[in-house]
Amino acid sequence: MAGDLLVQNATMILPKRVAIGDLRVVGGKIEAVAPGGGLDAKDGESVIDGTGLHLLPGAIDPHVHFREPGNYDKEDLESGSRAAASGGVTSFLDMPNNSPNTTNKATLQSKIQRASNKVVTHHGFFIGATKNNLNDLQSVEGMDGLCGIKIFMGNSTGDLLVHEQKDLENIFSNTSGIIATHAEDEERLQHRIEKFKDRTDIRAHAECRDAKCAMIATKRAVSLAKDHDHRLHVVHLTSAEEANWLVKNKGDLVTTEVCTHHLSFNQEDVERLGPRGLVNPPIRYEEDRSTLWKRLKDGTIDCVVTDHAPHTLEAKSKGYPSAPAGMPGVETSLPLMLTHAKNGRCSFSDVVKWMCEGPARVYGIEKKGSLIEGFDGDLAIVDLERKRIVADDQTWTRVQWSPYEGMELTGWPTHTVVDGDVVHRRHHHGGVKGEPVALPGSAGRVLTFRTQ
Ligand code: DOR
Ligand code: ZN
Repeated sequence: MAGDLLVQNATMILPKRVAIGDLRVVGGKIEAVAPGGGLDAKDGESVIDGTGLHLLPGAIDPHVHFREPGNYDKEDLESGSRAAASGGVTSFLDMPNNSPNTTNKATLQSKIQRASNKVVTHHGFFIGATKNNLNDLQSVEGMDGLCGIKIFMGNSTGDLLVHEQKDLENIFSNTSGIIATHAEDEERLQHRIEKFKDRTDIRAHAECRDAKCAMIATKRAVSLAKDHDHRLHVVHLTSAEEANWLVKNKGDLVTTEVCTHHLSFNQEDVERLGPRGLVNPPIRYEEDRSTLWKRLKDGTIDCVVTDHAPHTLEAKSKGYPSAPAGMPGVETSLPLMLTHAKNGRCSFSDVVKWMCEGPARVYGIEKKGSLIEGFDGDLAIVDLERKRIVADDQTWTRVQWSPYEGMELTGWPTHTVVDGDVVHRRHHHGGVKGEPVALPGSAGRVLTFRTQ
């Protein structure tokens, strides 16, 4: 039956321990978690033999740019969701910088409608703030599928921008739910972009959009949250300064995230990668990277996300500074983090904490992110011995490339399960991509978010 599944003899990453055993999903919900095993297959029940495999909750990526509507040459909800599913990601939250931008009820509803026909994973959407759409922000409050308000405090891809204090105050004081900020200070950015305009070496990117740009905006966002008693999520922390400052200044209202590329690359990698490594905020220096790991481990940073932001290789080939900023990542994030765990950077339970439990807690997504009876049957079954070299022509993203091209990652999902149904499968002798099992639109629901 659809939504029914038994996984036997897998190494389960449970909230407080790791145990070999069985897990049963009935009607899309986890009905039984049995460390030690003992669940026998019922007549006609789908069974996956998890011997030698690890069973994790499906990952939740709360920061992707799937480019629909408007930029189908880069991605759409179907290709993006398929890419997510192939990498063990069973829920995604999509950003509003589209054409047209998602800045009112009609564009938000249209996205939700499109998703219902195209995706194979659960999904939620941000509404973008502008300096004059307060009524629109208010009109969607509490709507199913709305995960929060995104504010670009500094400009990046697209034209969404709110940087003046009075406009920010207006939004923080008159809305509810979560505000997610892209924190780079617009004034300093503009000043520095002018100053750096003759530099064509890619090192200039991190020098120009420096840590101070990020720090100024992060401090400002946190002050606004505190002044207006508003829940705030600071997206993609990149600097040691911000991460260290937040240790004492985060408080109860503020959460934050780090991207897989900022954990995995430093300035040397950017020079090697060229424009593929161009992203906002930039990949910085080794000290930043190691501090982000430290602050992730001590709990200052709540979750790990991709900021999956595909651009065509053609656009990237324009070189620095003309090439657009952003890189794909949603199909490699879980294997990448499992590889970091394999290499001793963190534990497998940490990966679940940062990619499953963390996003569910930050955005108030109930009954997801943990292998607990009664929770949704979203699963990633992974083979932690399986090594695959990432290759551009073996990617699901429409832009057909990955910043991890040529890297060997260990730990790929063999099955991705949404509400008890397998949506993606990767055979032992198959290639890197694996194969879709679910038809577009046949799996995944629009998410609801508990706002405080
Ligand atoms: O590098 C980036 N790319 N940073 C952003 O903030 C937006 C993103 C995109 O949409 O391309
Ligand atoms: Zn983003």
